Amino acid sequence: MAKIADLDAFEKIQEEEKVIDTSKKVKIGIIGTGWIAENHARALLKMDDVEIVALADLIPGKAERFAQRFGIENARYYESDEALIAAEKDLDAVSICTYNTQHAPCAIHALEAGLHVMLEKPFTVTLDEAIEVMKAEKKSGKILTIGFQPRMSENMQMIKKIVQSGELGDIYYIQTGGGRRRGIPTPFGTTFIEKETGGIGALGDIGCYSLDMLLNAVGYPKPLTATGYISDFFGKDPAYYPNHPEYAEKFGVDDFAAGFVRLEGGIMLDFRISWAMHMNTCGDALILGTKGGLRIPSTDCWNGEFKTPLTIYKTLCDEMVEYQVPMKPAADFFFKKMRSFVDAVKEGGKATVPSSEIVINQAIIDGLVRSAKLGKEVEIEIPEV
Ligand SMILES: NC(=O)c1ccc[n+]([C@@H]2O[C@H](COP(=O)([O-])OP(=O)(O)OC[C@H]3O[C@@H](n4cnc5c(N)ncnc54)[C@H](O)[C@@H]3O)[C@@H](O)[C@H]2O)c1
Repeated sequence: MAKIADLDAFEKIQEEEKVIDTSKKVKIGIIGTGWIAENHARALLKMDDVEIVALADLIPGKAERFAQRFGIENARYYESDEALIAAEKDLDAVSICTYNTQHAPCAIHALEAGLHVMLEKPFTVTLDEAIEVMKAEKKSGKILTIGFQPRMSENMQMIKKIVQSGELGDIYYIQTGGGRRRGIPTPFGTTFIEKETGGIGALGDIGCYSLDMLLNAVGYPKPLTATGYISDFFGKDPAYYPNHPEYAEKFGVDDFAAGFVRLEGGIMLDFRISWAMHMNTCGDALILGTKGGLRIPSTDCWNGEFKTPLTIYKTLCDEMVEYQVPMKPAADFFFKKMRSFVDAVKEGGKATVPSSEIVINQAIIDGLVRSAKLGKEVEIEIPEV
């Protein structure tokens, strides 16, 4: 036991000792200065080799107020992504923190201007948009990474390690779980729930994380067909928002989604996600393989934190056995996400969460929406970029 503790300490020291070259500062602009931009700014401000040089928001004065709150000095302010990109000739990268429907246009503008891009999740609203962004990425040769910080969790990484180790055999069924009982995200306004700004609801907001957790573990196989269901019973109910019954009128996205997706390699994906329901959870996430099964405890937040350990189920000498995987401590996932992006920009590295993977995530979301609208199974095709 002592040895393991020593090893942990050694790894920690190694991590802390990584020397950062501060002689060249990476110049970053933040596009969209709402809630999530605060997490980006907090992380970037901890880095001695980064300068936040420009900020943009469509709401006049919002970017300035944001900068003042965070003590960001000598920055320039703009009222759109396009104005920032046109004026800032010395930028290396942008963090795109706009609401969902502005992800694609902002990413395309930035990539076309030769900038590296950290794009918040979900990738986009539709598959077509994701493909257009990827075309711009390919043409630019710049880094595009999608902001899935749960990928930075060592517990999350463990899921992939277990599957890839072969311990579970061939995977044939994966099930997403979790979901919120009361969690339509309206504490800071209605940008998540309006069609014009959010575009998609629970499906894109936390559905993309739940899909990523399992699809990343099994190597992001291509989706073939989808049967989807979406509903909006809670979002459309004025009683859901005692202090803001008018939000019900504005609600234009999904608050619950479910579906079956056939994946290449004979894997069936059983999906469900919720912002609101009369239930505490959609269950644990499961991965079933020919030699073992993995239970991933239910989580409603999808922020990369695990409160209880993963459990593996197997047969050993004809006995059914189960064992738990030791949990790793939580870390500052936002810092790790932003640091890995800055490192890639500085060192000419690759995206930590590349579009080539997340386009599959987006294609599934897109397929589930199309199927739900048509009321039947649909085929999923991802155009080549
Ligand atoms: N990674 C995470 O954990 C996490 C958490 C919350 C939100 N998000 C994602 O971050 C995004 C933003 O969420 P939020 O809560 O900050 O939303 P928000 O609505 O509070 O902020 C978005 C801001 O972007 C601005 N904006 C929109 N289009 C713009 C443009 N073209 N140019 C300049 N400014 C523009 C808006 O005026 C607004 O102030 C969403 O896509 C959401 O899914 C990620």
